[in-house]
Amino acid sequence: MLAAEGVPLAQIAADIGTPFYCYASGAIEAQYRRYAEAFADQDARIHYAVKANHNLAVIRTLARLGAGADVVSEGELRRALAAGVPPDRIVFSGVGKTREELAFALARGIHQINVESEPELEALSEVASSMGLRAPVALRVNPDVDARTHAKISTGKKENKFGIDLGLVHASAKRAAGLPGIALEGLAVHIGSQLTDLAPYRLAFSRLAELVRELRAEGVGLRRLDLGGGLGIAYRDETPPSLADYAAIVRDATRGLDLALSLEPGRALVGSAGVLVARIIYRKAGATRSFLVLDAAMNDLIRPALYEAWHEIVPLAEPRPDAESMPVDVVGPVCESGDTFATSRMLPPLAAGDLLAFLSAGAYGAVMSSSYNSRRLVPEVLVRGESFAVVRPRPTFDEMLSQDAMPDWLR
Ligand code: LLP
Repeated sequence: MLAAEGVPLAQIAADIGTPFYCYASGAIEAQYRRYAEAFADQDARIHYAVKANHNLAVIRTLARLGAGADVVSEGELRRALAAGVPPDRIVFSGVGKTREELAFALARGIHQINVESEPELEALSEVASSMGLRAPVALRVNPDVDARTHAKISTGKKENKFGIDLGLVHASAKRAAGLPGIALEGLAVHIGSQLTDLAPYRLAFSRLAELVRELRAEGVGLRRLDLGGGLGIAYRDETPPSLADYAAIVRDATRGLDLALSLEPGRALVGSAGVLVARIIYRKAGATRSFLVLDAAMNDLIRPALYEAWHEIVPLAEPRPDAESMPVDVVGPVCESGDTFATSRMLPPLAAGDLLAFLSAGAYGAVMSSSYNSRRLVPEVLVRGESFAVVRPRPTFDEMLSQDAMPDWLR
């Protein structure tokens, strides 16, 4: 029977019902320690990219080990603070921060704001000046590098909306240096997510290092370099680069530059530490295909529908050794054909009532869930050793309905 640390997943299912996400503290902690260990000989800080899994308990698990946070909205910033991440360990990224969000971040004294355009630079300078502050800034550079990942999560090519074009960075840096509300501290880059190849990193990091040298030669003092996140995990048969090799690329690219480095891993810290558990409602024979209809749907885990992502699907109960696997389509109950987790997936014989786990669902799972089809938001559970805790409960239908309001004229 599949377990999260010392807790059988079926026991959690019996307790709280399905579907639910479950995360293993030990796996999150071990991965953070591996990451920190790989960079122990460099002046590097790990800012966990909260967008991967923003549950307060997950953020706190990492914060307790010393992780900082990378946030992309006031909501994420508030989560990081609420989870106990000190403001001076928080980096604020994102292509469209509002003045209100910038003011909030400045008032809290966060470590760094990664600015992605000149208009944002101007806005930030105004906001900071009006508060009598200078904003600690890194300019996010678009290095025009193909991360060789899914198009929807590739961010470092010049046609992408992210960062300041390589050719414009010099001008932006000078502009920044002349603005009263800006303290230009460094550069930042993030080329994409789920990278399984180090070559794009090598190229991007060397471009950034070159820029640092050029800008310094022009009198722009830079002390920090934020290298983003994106290191992939194994969903199927990928072999993501080792942390040691990744760290070596960073070491090589930044050698001799005397820079304080930041890393922003999200998926690599939490992705493999979580599963989504669902129950089979029906086993259905179509004209040409056979379907397993689950009680989890695309609103709970959207990655297969959105990115054609593969998640390994495993029955919680060990199949009989002589059981022969058959191809089935694994689908949810939502009224769209896109609500398909897998087609022709080879699985052992399964029946209504059986439990399944989607593996590698700790990142970009629950955070991307919705209540589409008026399905209740999927709950989250954190396991530690023999204990588990519901860290986000399943809302009741009353709670769900009470979020809407009736206008006067319809009362
Ligand atoms: N830093 C920045 C500026 C980012 O935009 C991201 C992710 C990260 C760090 C963390 O990347 P990671 O280490 O987790 O790859 N929903 C998609 C992934 C979107 C990633 C967006 N940015 C998915 O499910 O694959």
